[in-house]
Amino acid sequence: MLKFSFFLAFGLFSLLATAQVCPILPTPAVYQPTNGQFVCSGTLLIDPSEITPDLKAAFTDYALWANNIQVSPFVQNPMVQFKKLTNVKQDSYSINIADRITISYSSEASCFYAWVSLLQLSTQQDGQLSFPKCFVKDYPEFQWRGLHLDVSRHFFTVNEVKRFIDLMAYYKFNTLHWHLTDDQGWRIEIKKYPLLTQVGAWRDSTVENHYTTQPRTYNKTRYGGFYTQEEVKDIVNYAGARFINVVPEIEMPGHARAALAAYPQYSCTGQAQGVEGLWGIFDDIFCAKEESILFLQDVLKEVLPLFPGAYIHVGGDEAPKTRWKECPNCQAVIKANGLHDEHELQSYFIGRMDAFLTQNGKKLIGWDEILEGGLSPNATVMSWRGYEGGKAAAAQGHYVVMCPGSHCYFDHYQGRGADEPLAIGGYTPLDRVYEFNPIPSDMDVASAAYVLGAQGNLWTEYIPDMAQLEYMTYPRAIALSTALWSETKLPYDQFLSTLVQFHFSFLNNQKVNFSKAALKPEIKTMRGKNGGIEIQKVPAKGLDKQPEVLNNISPAKKKTKVVGLKIEQGSGIAPKQLEVIQHKALGAQIVFQTPPSPKYDNGSLTIVDGQLGARPWKGNEWLGFESDSVSFDIVFDKPIKVKEIRIHTLHDPNSWIWAAQTYNIALNKFGCGNGIADGYSTSETIEITVKDKNVKQIHVNIYGISKIPSGQPGAGNTPWLFLDEIEIR
Ligand code: ACM
Ligand code: ZN
Repeated sequence: MLKFSFFLAFGLFSLLATAQVCPILPTPAVYQPTNGQFVCSGTLLIDPSEITPDLKAAFTDYALWANNIQVSPFVQNPMVQFKKLTNVKQDSYSINIADRITISYSSEASCFYAWVSLLQLSTQQDGQLSFPKCFVKDYPEFQWRGLHLDVSRHFFTVNEVKRFIDLMAYYKFNTLHWHLTDDQGWRIEIKKYPLLTQVGAWRDSTVENHYTTQPRTYNKTRYGGFYTQEEVKDIVNYAGARFINVVPEIEMPGHARAALAAYPQYSCTGQAQGVEGLWGIFDDIFCAKEESILFLQDVLKEVLPLFPGAYIHVGGDEAPKTRWKECPNCQAVIKANGLHDEHELQSYFIGRMDAFLTQNGKKLIGWDEILEGGLSPNATVMSWRGYEGGKAAAAQGHYVVMCPGSHCYFDHYQGRGADEPLAIGGYTPLDRVYEFNPIPSDMDVASAAYVLGAQGNLWTEYIPDMAQLEYMTYPRAIALSTALWSETKLPYDQFLSTLVQFHFSFLNNQKVNFSKAALKPEIKTMRGKNGGIEIQKVPAKGLDKQPEVLNNISPAKKKTKVVGLKIEQGSGIAPKQLEVIQHKALGAQIVFQTPPSPKYDNGSLTIVDGQLGARPWKGNEWLGFESDSVSFDIVFDKPIKVKEIRIHTLHDPNSWIWAAQTYNIALNKFGCGNGIADGYSTSETIEITVKDKNVKQIHVNIYGISKIPSGQPGAGNTPWLFLDEIEIR
């Protein structure tokens, strides 16, 4: 039944279901189909003599898990043979499927990648296993292809983490960044400091709804969990068998409230506070005194032997300096080391960890805030607040992992429907992830050599369980793995059809709760021919379908026109009534002196289409400006009488969007700020009362704040200004 409705819904793609189309994602470098199929009944017989016993075991387990394929050794007359090659590109492999399957590989990892590709080529029917006859040659573009998993905000069991790893391996990810500690829970057993898990792994309450929703309410159920060191080893081995390296993150000096709940003596104030039940950024961080540094090095001493990989992540992000400024111990460290300020103190703190890790044969990696106050000598930078940190680090000759919020934050919304589950904010749809390049276009070749790759980040404040985790991860993770693996990407529409045709069935078979938001049409308003507006159903990007006009609306006297939308069942959008607010600027021309950012330019009609922008913001129905002031003119066809102007702006600090605070309005003075009204607004909507008969145009200036205040997400950056409907009455 599942299969039946699946093919009905996506029958569009079935024409592509020929062996000519490469089903493998991420897309391999070369795929040359030849004629026919290699068919066998039931078990796949392999010659394991040119692979290690560990690989043989991994292949057998993984084929059964991924595609329900039985594998047996049979040296006399195998169907699959392996050949180890030397002097070929790192991690490259090839597969030749003719009368026999031959896999040539350069490294054990590449042999595993070949095996995964082979599994993705398989189809099964009536007990028969078939593979298209073809030649595949392949290698990864980037060496760091990661997903990050926050297990502090919400805890995932050993088996859940293993499932997450199994799915990652199917898409050739090789790095799991495991965010093990944060304000809301410490998740790794440390034998010398048992209170870290006895106390720090448990919180008494968890905030409900979005953390900006007021009044706040809390779920008072005790929540938590942790991994014993034996469980950590088990997960690391499990990942290793699938060629995934696990990078642990022990956060410092910020996001430390769970640790400090257990050992308050390592904070600045020494005062005990509970494990945090609210999301956000908190002032109480590790003190920079020697005892705290030695405590954290003791913790790392137990962490290092559990993780065979080179990298240890020490966090470094979002550490307010409020306590350090007032702490005599911190100030004494500043003085004794000739430091200038608290940023240099953070640099000193991270530098101590860098030296410690280097002595112990490991490499430090941290969020891009570790650049502030000076980068420590061996640090690798994870650039999350855009590409800038990564560019600065690479220019200084440091390695970089890119994960800018614009493309790599999988805790953002991926669809605009009202049915999308609550997320932290932001909007990172599938096509945005697919277009991602870890090397920004303005980076020089020398710097680009320092970019190891990238990763998708799954922060779990709003991801309470595995079903939700899978929803936020898939299919965006497949788009990301393609962006990181494939030197030559297919156009987005071909990627989408491959995804739907060949991978949705895999995800369905695995009972992955993946999102189909990328296939849903959207309701959009367009300028109509008669000066009014047209309501259209616009197919999702990448689908070969035409927009459909649902309704035409012309400016009228009535306050609100309710438009019933006829939306067919199974279209993915809920039938609804669209309310169009009637006002005098409906469909008016807008001339911008400050252009909207290309990232959030939904067309100037957006602000005069009778539609109020939805909350929570999901990237649409608003115009976004990368500036702290915005100027534009509203131009009317004929003079109108104006009594009231309402300007809607957005306040969404999580998405680094701050509402306009002051404004200046001029009537009939194009591009001129010498206004008839100016003032200060304390709400998202600016309301201005005027009285004028002969208005041909209105000039609007609005101003936001120039820097996000400390303690708020994105502190220190210029916030975005977002604008929606300008209602004129
Ligand atoms: C981060 O998202 N705070 C690294
Ligand atoms: Zn201190």
